[in-house]
Amino acid sequence: MYINFWYPMATVEEVGEKPIKVRCLDQDFVMFRGDDGKVGCLSNTCVHRGGSLAGGKVMGDRIQCPYHGWQYTGDGECKKIPSLGKGARVPGRTRVDAYPVEERHGIVFAFLGDLPEEDRPPIIPVPEEGQDGWRPTLVHYELKGNYERSIENGIDPAHNEYVHDTHGFSGEDEDYSVGELRDVPADWGHGFWHTFQAPPLPPQLRELREQPGDLEVGTGHHGPNQVWTYIHPSPEFYFHQYLFERPIDEEHIHVYLLCMRNCMLDPDQDDLMNERNMYVAKQDVVIIEDLHPVLTPPTTTKEFMTPSDKCIVMYRDRLKEWDAKGWRIDMDEVRRNTKKVAYAIPSPQRRQVKGWVLDPIPLMDGKQVAAKLKAAS
Ligand code: FES
Ligand SMILES: [Fe+2]
Repeated sequence: MYINFWYPMATVEEVGEKPIKVRCLDQDFVMFRGDDGKVGCLSNTCVHRGGSLAGGKVMGDRIQCPYHGWQYTGDGECKKIPSLGKGARVPGRTRVDAYPVEERHGIVFAFLGDLPEEDRPPIIPVPEEGQDGWRPTLVHYELKGNYERSIENGIDPAHNEYVHDTHGFSGEDEDYSVGELRDVPADWGHGFWHTFQAPPLPPQLRELREQPGDLEVGTGHHGPNQVWTYIHPSPEFYFHQYLFERPIDEEHIHVYLLCMRNCMLDPDQDDLMNERNMYVAKQDVVIIEDLHPVLTPPTTTKEFMTPSDKCIVMYRDRLKEWDAKGWRIDMDEVRRNTKKVAYAIPSPQRRQVKGWVLDPIPLMDGKQVAAKLKAAS
């Protein structure tokens, strides 16, 4: 798992005056909306004696710890320590890490890392947002599995024939093979377009494409945890889907699936869209939850790759680039200390201000990752 990317933390409706605890990257965060309307996302550990801030309450634009009442603003400053007495000066070192937040597509994203704004990898762009002739739906769900395995499933051209009876023939197509993959390189990922034979659409969607036939599909990853999938059942009708994944920890994921469509624009059709998207998603969940090993193996020599796995290999190569930047969390070290050390994902402010109570989460530098891979191959 990596710091320095945007992660989907909750839906906009879930973040209100009642604080919520959200787990991501195996760490807890508190999220709340202050009376100024701004969303705060802070490390959940109170630096006094380890209280869980999410168990406290929102007081104006601050979150109050349930244990001894310390109050923090959404930017992580501690403004009040009641035990010191009224008007007492609050030492600066009492701040907690606070993370940049963006509300988009009905989702609240947090940037979990310390990069300055100009260097941050962006959230995947959604050009259809707000455009006439497009309608969004959003579903979200949790599953047991590793998010990298799930992203790999999202960009895998060869599973549709077997896993999705909506997109393939359940292995019954005698002439099945994966055709040409047309590359789509991008700054923060890689994708491809391909054409495959698909069964007819169900009666409710039949107006989009009557016959079984060629389906144009493009897909690719963006960063470690986002996927775009464009499905074009006909030259005019498009479904553009965006998958945002939150690794709760290494073995659990919360998935947010935004589906933009330029057809069936009546809001009454939203339920049908959501049902179909969840039908397909659940087929993937069954596969991902039963993969062995749970995590992606440390080298591609421990699985046998074929040409249709090219995208998977490219995804893993991209992860190595982020390893080289030192963004990978050292989970072995985190696990070793889990009962005795509270870590914080370093926030951007750590680059400006010294003196923090919690240690930053241990990261692996590029050389450590390379040594580990060598040992595993
Ligand atoms: S532990 Fe939070 S105020 Fe004491
Ligand atoms: Fe799938």
